[in-house]
Amino acid sequence: MSNSENLRVVLASRPSGAPTPNNFRLETEPIPVPAQGQMLLRTICLSLDPYMRGRMSDAPSYAPPVAVGDVMVGSTVSQVEISHHSDFTVGELVLSQSGWQGYALSDGKGVFHLPADLKHPSYALGVLGMPGFTAFMGLLEIGRPVAGETVVVAAATGAVGSVVGQIAKLKGCHVVGIAGGERKCRSAVEDMGFDACINHRDPALKDLLAQACPKGIDIYFENVGGVVFEAVLPLLNTRSRIPLCGLIAQYNDPEAPQGRDRTSQVMGIFLKRRVRLQGFIIFDDYGPHFGDFQKQMSEWFTAGKIKYREDIVEGLEHAPEAFIGLLQGENFGKLVVQVGVANR
Ligand SMILES: NC(=O)c1ccc[n+]([C@@H]2O[C@H](COP(=O)([O-])OP(=O)(O)OC[C@H]3O[C@@H](n4cnc5c(N)ncnc54)[C@H](OP(=O)(O)O)[C@@H]3O)[C@@H](O)[C@H]2O)c1
Repeated sequence: MSNSENLRVVLASRPSGAPTPNNFRLETEPIPVPAQGQMLLRTICLSLDPYMRGRMSDAPSYAPPVAVGDVMVGSTVSQVEISHHSDFTVGELVLSQSGWQGYALSDGKGVFHLPADLKHPSYALGVLGMPGFTAFMGLLEIGRPVAGETVVVAAATGAVGSVVGQIAKLKGCHVVGIAGGERKCRSAVEDMGFDACINHRDPALKDLLAQACPKGIDIYFENVGGVVFEAVLPLLNTRSRIPLCGLIAQYNDPEAPQGRDRTSQVMGIFLKRRVRLQGFIIFDDYGPHFGDFQKQMSEWFTAGKIKYREDIVEGLEHAPEAFIGLLQGENFGKLVVQVGVANR
């Protein structure tokens, strides 16, 4: 790509099942020129998140799908290259929704200033941004942890799960993670301070989880569904809470038959144990609390109370394979694509 071209990743076709590289297409176009009231943003880093699998599909959802041929959606940290907008100055870093491309035009809507002294701009896409906010609100508002309770979280080393577990520790809970593989589980305990972490690929998952939760489960932060949920279900305590954040195990397979229909059995357990389950879509439900979250999380983070791990992929052209890997648990930490370098 030359300096005058914009590299973009567009949706080439809708996946059936797991996405493949053929569902994406790399394109170049001339760098667009901003009109009056617009600015040109250059992408520094791009967040890759599980919700993007939903946008690749045209099944009804809470947000419209990406049209075939359009640039894939995504949050970015971008630098203002040219500004014809009175609120934004050339050189500043912003949080925007530029998508999977090197450059984007913007009229400033949905674009947020980032602090000039931000040491790690990509953290605005993770622990200090949407995933951290999701963990914070889901756990504290829906889970409502009380010291001494047992909290279980799936995808425990991921962008959301790792923050959920660490906040639960700060609240004095017994925290058990569930993650894919021994390396991730070791990191949850040794680096992030979880009390235990169980590998969901271990055939003894149910027994191991029961041993790690001798007093049952008071809060299950649901990121995954599938076999993980099956293992959690018998251990739920009376008046337990389930912040229903995501169900990544079925994103590639929404229509797959799950065997015998166990809905009424599951509902029966919820009824008898007075389980409170609440789904949420972070910005739709809690948007006005973002400032409170940023203040509290920045304090915890600066004080070293929250640890954070990123999985950085170099180059926009590698975004499709990295995203496909995210849906199979190949990322270890918040998945971010380094697209460019900020001029500071
Ligand atoms: N409700 C909301 O507003 C909201 C906002 C943000 C995120 N979310 C949801 O939160 C969840 C976590 O998102 P994230 O951004 O933090 O992603 P992440 O945990 O950083 O990455 C996804 C992880 O999911 C796990 N996974 C993938 N396929 C799996 C499968 N078939 N079975 C079990 N685990 C699987 C993998 O971890 P392991 O290798 O450890 O299994 C993978 O690393 C997702 O379900 C996402 O959709 C919801």
